[in-house]
Amino acid sequence: MTHVMKSGALQSDLHRKEGNSSESAVDGNRRRISNPLMFLRRWAANPLQMGSIIPSSQALCLRIARQMRRTSDQYVVELGAGTGVVSKAMLDAGLPPEKLYVVEIVPDMAKHLRDVLPGVNVIEGDARDLAQLLPEHVRGNVGTVVCGVPLVLLPLAEQKKFIDAMDAVAPGVGFLHFSYCITSPLPYQKHHLTAKREEWTPRNFPPASVWRYTPEK
Ligand SMILES: C[S@@+](CC[C@H](N)C(=O)[O-])C[C@H]1O[C@@H](n2cnc3c(N)ncnc32)[C@H](O)[C@@H]1O
Repeated sequence: MTHVMKSGALQSDLHRKEGNSSESAVDGNRRRISNPLMFLRRWAANPLQMGSIIPSSQALCLRIARQMRRTSDQYVVELGAGTGVVSKAMLDAGLPPEKLYVVEIVPDMAKHLRDVLPGVNVIEGDARDLAQLLPEHVRGNVGTVVCGVPLVLLPLAEQKKFIDAMDAVAPGVGFLHFSYCITSPLPYQKHHLTAKREEWTPRNFPPASVWRYTPEK
């Protein structure tokens, strides 16, 4: 089932703007968002779909957030938002909640995202159907796509479905993808992409990199 819903009232701590993300800041709200037990349960139910046994660390989320690029009218789209910790870091980095669309396939996790990310557009559905899931005014007006779905675990043809879906809504933009691999998690040349490791942190379990993939010119 596909379900698009915008959450209710904004909470002030989710609506903070620009420049106040610091790795040393202890954030109780992040702890509420990051729900390790729910994550572990989902991993036990479907390890391939989750790709990790615990949510992304604050250090990793901050590194993803600082790679976000957009003009003021553009949207950010996150695939496989999970617990919402990456989304939260992007909001804290100044992204207005109404400019963020997150797609999550697991109904319980989509519900959790609506609960913890007020004002964010939460879509329950399969990210491979992204072009059908996003409203028309968003398609083609996307500054950054973050892919949280663990593509490394998928065969080439399945990876291509996600890559094509992202390119359909953000032509030429490419996407950010985080991974625990030492080398590129995607065989990027086979997908006609260029690859750049933008970030790496040991402060994640396991240590993680943020890759930027862009369509070859
Ligand atoms: C590695 S986890 C996300 C981690 C997230 N950054 C966090 O720390 O909570 C991958 C997420 O992708 C979701 N997912 C997997 N396949 C998907 C698909 N086809 N469409 C949308 N979401 C999907 C999973 O349910 C899971 O929540």
